Amino acid sequence: MTTKIAVFASGSGSNFQAIQEAILRGDLDAKVELVVTDKPNALVVTRAENFDIPVHAFLAKNYESKTAYEEEIVSLLRDKEVEWIVLAGYMRLIGDTLLLAFPNRIINIHPSLLPSFPGKDAIGQALDHGVKVTGVTVHFVDEGMDTGPILAQAAVEVINGNREETASRIHAVEHELYTKTLKQLFEQ
Ligand code: GAR
Repeated sequence: MTTKIAVFASGSGSNFQAIQEAILRGDLDAKVELVVTDKPNALVVTRAENFDIPVHAFLAKNYESKTAYEEEIVSLLRDKEVEWIVLAGYMRLIGDTLLLAFPNRIINIHPSLLPSFPGKDAIGQALDHGVKVTGVTVHFVDEGMDTGPILAQAAVEVINGNREETASRIHAVEHELYTKTLKQLFEQ
């Protein structure tokens, strides 16, 4: 059975693109019913439009609270019978409204070997610490910042502390690891 998913993103959306391309190749039996973004000008919006995937773009400051904007999202996801929420560079903490509506059904990807370097700019944090190996983690989302049970990890070597090269290696690993992990989850 094709799994109905929503992808949440705040930025470029390269992970969204990798997931959608895997779906179109037939490597992942899923359908992206909705892309949700808190950044209406983010590149992910254009990427979604190119695939004719509906987008819900919102500005948090236009709502009274996190509960208010998350209630609207839950209602959209229910209408589309979404089963899983896939966070792909969504840079906001998920609140109780979404967590309670989708228990153990929200997944995140993070560009470090968690629990090292949670939060923003994980790649920069790793380079600042001078680590020789960093990586990628896919995990279930709970109320914390990049916490929650780990599903998969992959290591990435840091070459000469070079940010661009490390970032591009990490993104390449992310695109493969996310699709592979989602496939395993959805086939369970
Ligand atoms: C990815 O590297 C993802 O791991 C990271 O944001 C980037 C989004 O890239 N997520 C986090 O840092 C979550 N704390 P993309 O927009 O090109 O997919």
